[in-house]
Amino acid sequence: MKVTAVLLAAGQGTRMKSDLPKVLHPLCGKPMLWHVLEALKDAATEKPVVIVGHGAEEVKKYLGDSAECVVQEPQLGTGHAAMQAEPLLKGKTDYVIITYADMPLLRGGTFKRLLETQRLNSGPFSLLTVIADDPRGFGRIVRKADGTVEAIVEEYVATAEQQKIRELNVGAYCFKADWLWNELHRIEKNPKKGEYYLTDIVEIAVKDNLPVQAVVHDDFIETIGINTRIHLSEAEAALRMRINHQHMLNGVSMMDPTSTYIDMGVKIGRDTTLLPNTYLHGNTEIGEGNVIGPNTIIRDSRIGNRCKVLGSVMEGAIIEEDVDIGPFARLRKGAHLKSHVHMGNFGEVKDSTLDEGVKMGHFSYIGNATIGANTNIGAGTITANFDGEKKNPTEIGEDVFIGSDTMLIAPLKLGDGARTGAGAVVTKNVPEDTLVVGMPARAIRKLERKKKKG
Ligand code: UD1
Ligand code: CA
Repeated sequence: MKVTAVLLAAGQGTRMKSDLPKVLHPLCGKPMLWHVLEALKDAATEKPVVIVGHGAEEVKKYLGDSAECVVQEPQLGTGHAAMQAEPLLKGKTDYVIITYADMPLLRGGTFKRLLETQRLNSGPFSLLTVIADDPRGFGRIVRKADGTVEAIVEEYVATAEQQKIRELNVGAYCFKADWLWNELHRIEKNPKKGEYYLTDIVEIAVKDNLPVQAVVHDDFIETIGINTRIHLSEAEAALRMRINHQHMLNGVSMMDPTSTYIDMGVKIGRDTTLLPNTYLHGNTEIGEGNVIGPNTIIRDSRIGNRCKVLGSVMEGAIIEEDVDIGPFARLRKGAHLKSHVHMGNFGEVKDSTLDEGVKMGHFSYIGNATIGANTNIGAGTITANFDGEKKNPTEIGEDVFIGSDTMLIAPLKLGDGARTGAGAVVTKNVPEDTLVVGMPARAIRKLERKKKKG
């Protein structure tokens, strides 16, 4: 049995008032579109087809070869959008699930239920509905006296009586493919809006006395559709709560889930505690027994076990076991802190490896450096790694003691057991077990001042 998902994503999203195509607006770190495609994987067996139009190039670029894209030009409504998939899919699949890219909270299980319902349906298709108090501009499900589905009436044409209907069209349909491609063309242009509405397919089936099945959903949250940025924020809050609950059920503690922001796909081990105002973004993996936050931002980083990260920012960095950093530590791309490293306040590390047990307590910048095990970096130490043209490396050995306020002028090597006195400016390599001190400032040459342009 072949099941293919067709995702309608060509609309302009006028109500978002944005230069970015609506379906690329992010929710918990992934574009709206991604969430729907991910959920559809649970029901579909084939590569999805995405109907693109507004911002087609951007959307296509994002999708790469994860989907077949078809351009709908001009965009003449959801029925017209669905027709664009016909040349690609006719005769190639048994079932077609059509849904809208602006419904990112729908779960895989819901699409599965829709498919299972349609497989047992003698009629041509099934659709998903929800009972809700707030209609949010959704189409209303009109039923006959015997309870069978008769039509979907869009809000703007609904009578006062129809407007009161609480059963709404979510915007997910599962069709027998052959029937769909034969009958889709019967949808007529809506005289008022000049568009072809996919929802009119219901009346076509009903006219032919074919039963349309409805899967009635009771979780309104899952059916939040996004037409405005207000909806976007509501959907993000709901999705965030869903993500946080899953982590808590897996053994992660959160003091305040409403102020804990975790992207989709972030991994966190058990007995890790997240304190308020913590952001975990992108491709981030966190082990067990850590305490993270408060006020911490972590992106694309890896944290081992039993670490403490207090009020700090990490980006593209790795810390191993029993590391503690912060408050106000900043780890940039390529920072790698091995086990038992301590990094105190106001430190910055990038493109550097700090071996086991390194201590770097206060006010230091370490860039393009390797630091051997158990070395102590005194307050205010700077690796002067940039000579105006390129970045130069600093290699510091094991058990080195760098005195406060040392300037390490790279490229530079300090052997194991070396020491520098406070305020040293080190310009030459230091051999093992050697103490270097001093360098008072003195005039060495006259400079030619560059004239500022303009
Ligand atoms: C649609 C449904 C409505 C349902 C609601 C639920 C129709 C006519 N109405 O209304 O019954 O309650 O969704 O979310 O289907 N699109 C295209 N090409 C087009 C027009 C739209 O690809 O020419 C895409 C959009 O990008 C969007 C989706 O189809 O992802 C739905 O379009 P939208 O304009 O948001 O429809 P609604 O007014 O929300
Ligand atoms: Ca919509």
